[in-house]
Amino acid sequence: MTKQNRSFNLEGKVVLITGAARGIGLDCAQRLALAGASVMLTDVLEDLGENAISSIREKGGKAAFCKLDVTCEEDWQKAIAATLNSFAGLDVLVNNAGIEIAKPLLQMSIEEWRRMHAINVEGVFLGTKHAISAMISDDNGGHGGSIINLSSVAGLVGVPGFAGYCAAKGAVRLFSKAVAAEFGSMNIRVNSIHPGVIKTEMGDKAIQDVANIVFGGDFEQGLNLIKNNTPLGRIGETADVAAMVQFLASDAACYITGTELVIDGGISAV
Ligand SMILES: NC(=O)c1ccc[n+]([C@@H]2O[C@H](COP(=O)([O-])OP(=O)(O)OC[C@H]3O[C@@H](n4cnc5c(N)ncnc54)[C@H](O)[C@@H]3O)[C@@H](O)[C@H]2O)c1
Repeated sequence: MTKQNRSFNLEGKVVLITGAARGIGLDCAQRLALAGASVMLTDVLEDLGENAISSIREKGGKAAFCKLDVTCEEDWQKAIAATLNSFAGLDVLVNNAGIEIAKPLLQMSIEEWRRMHAINVEGVFLGTKHAISAMISDDNGGHGGSIINLSSVAGLVGVPGFAGYCAAKGAVRLFSKAVAAEFGSMNIRVNSIHPGVIKTEMGDKAIQDVANIVFGGDFEQGLNLIKNNTPLGRIGETADVAAMVQFLASDAACYITGTELVIDGGISAV
């Protein structure tokens, strides 16, 4: 019988989250801080990021902010160093930052394809590489860590008009499994999560993109199409995702690695 604490409590854990100034990343930061973690919020949106840490601190949470463009390796080195300086460790990385560009394939430029892959795939590679270096170093106690990569249902099934986004999110899924296989012996857990449409700026854009592709632009029709194809009958909330991120960050998930957690109200099951 292991002596590990298997609760969802995150007291004593240090977490770095990318794209944490708004949307899913912000909700994850708030929830994980409330669960006791020290959270380094990072984003390219500095004003929103600073506001976010103020509101977490007002509620008694431990949080700091560092500007981080996930495509920039130097930014990653600085953000990891800032996390180690502020909180003396790194236990959890949430690779959340992402962009979505939906277009009929024949209209997608190579620049758009590369931008989507630079942020959604290369950003995850850089973050995972630098976070694991910190997690396995003797300075960090060498006790391992948890890496949680935001993929999407679009990383599991093909969606017309979303080929570039599907390719990027599919890459995140298999990258996560390969890294889980490579670093399991060092107690590094790596999992991907796969939200359906979640109510954020990106989620609204995705609904509009579906509406443009299928209905000539009517947002309500796009929304109803998604809801009607979702067994639970609604669009997801950021809290639906943040709860599962808390689970994967916690010791309750200590035997879970290389898996994919689908949070989509069942849309990919039908
Ligand atoms: N909302 C959805 O419907 C949905 C569904 C499935 C997966 N996802 C994934 O969840 C993650 C979060 O999505 P969201 O809905 O909160 O999106 P969002 O657009 O609301 O927020 C994304 C955040 O990422 C940041 N970001 C963008 N480019 C960056 C860069 N180069 N470096 C650092 N930060 C950058 C933005 O500033 C923003 O704060 C993304 O990876 C997205 O692909 C979202």
